[in-house]
Amino acid sequence: MKGVKILGFGHYCPENIVSNVDLEEIVETTDEWIIKRTGIKERRISTGEGTVDLAYKAALNALENSKCSKDDIDLIIVATTSPDKLMPSTACSIQGLLDCKNAAAFDISAACSGFVYSLIVASSLIKTTGKKKALVIGSEVLSKIVDWSDRSTCVLFGDGAGAAILEISENDDCIISTCFAADGNLGEKSLVAAELKINTPFISDNLEEKRYIEMKGGEVFKFAVSVLPEIVRELLEKSNEDINDIKFIVPHQANLRIIDEAARRLKINKEKFYVNVDRYGNTSAASIPIALSELFEKGLINKGDKIILAAFGGGLTWAGALIKF
Ligand code: UT7
Repeated sequence: MKGVKILGFGHYCPENIVSNVDLEEIVETTDEWIIKRTGIKERRISTGEGTVDLAYKAALNALENSKCSKDDIDLIIVATTSPDKLMPSTACSIQGLLDCKNAAAFDISAACSGFVYSLIVASSLIKTTGKKKALVIGSEVLSKIVDWSDRSTCVLFGDGAGAAILEISENDDCIISTCFAADGNLGEKSLVAAELKINTPFISDNLEEKRYIEMKGGEVFKFAVSVLPEIVRELLEKSNEDINDIKFIVPHQANLRIIDEAARRLKINKEKFYVNVDRYGNTSAASIPIALSELFEKGLINKGDKIILAAFGGGLTWAGALIKF
């Protein structure tokens, strides 16, 4: 039986810390409002590094933690909503920087669910195409597409990157069960970023380009608190596991209130959810791999531990994975 194992994680976030008090200088908000409504205390905001730069540093950290040579990587997938360029893809830029001569490389666009989507795609490709070692990255410089005059969104997001190394396994599979899905109609209505318009010599109207994230926060909130427990229940059922045997749930870090409400609906202790949204804000596709990298850095995951990843976001998309280390 062909499966995959995860060799290790890494992450990198820009050094520049922006506190809620710093944001009080930019928009009409308060530290108190942001903490009470979101749980966010600070976030990292790039002062020049791009999505490729963050992805590259997270990748080097993951390679080091996995004791893995870049030359063995033959597949690179980057999940991002904030690429530096439409072409080449972020993954191709990383392939060039790392000089991974044998690696295929492409990006996945599934917003905050992007890393879990990429993990599922990478593990399927490893099992079916002969690729042996994959570098999977979530990297975002959302500050490029945040409207810094809109207090309802600019306080939420942050920049960062996280990465994982996957390897083929001939007799074991650490990815026990997965789910992934989308609702495009709901996505168009509630969460959109950077809409490119047609401005050619062949049309008379010059259309104004939309650059920034626009979100109906309440609608996304309702979706998130219902889909997060659904992902957990679906994964447990598919793998015939009991919630009490799961060491951590690593949710997409969007809002502490979403995580607390999911814990209430699942009737489980909040402590089972790993939380770092207070320090990074919402880093979209990077949030889950940064959290995983921190869990390993802190020595909180041991061999045999089972964890659940649960992501939701723009698209709208959602995705989950139950993993045994
Ligand atoms: O990763 C992608 C997925 N995204 C998410 O999961 C985000 C989901 N949504 C949320 O987390 C929440 O809906 C928000 C944090 C975005 C907003 O929280 P809320 O409790 O739903 O607030 P609200 O949008 O209903 O706004 C309540 C009030 C409004 O004022 P009025 O109309 O009651 O006078 C807003 O104008 O709070 C106001 N407000 C603010 N006040 C101070 C909105 N943003 C701010 C702000 N500071 N930054």
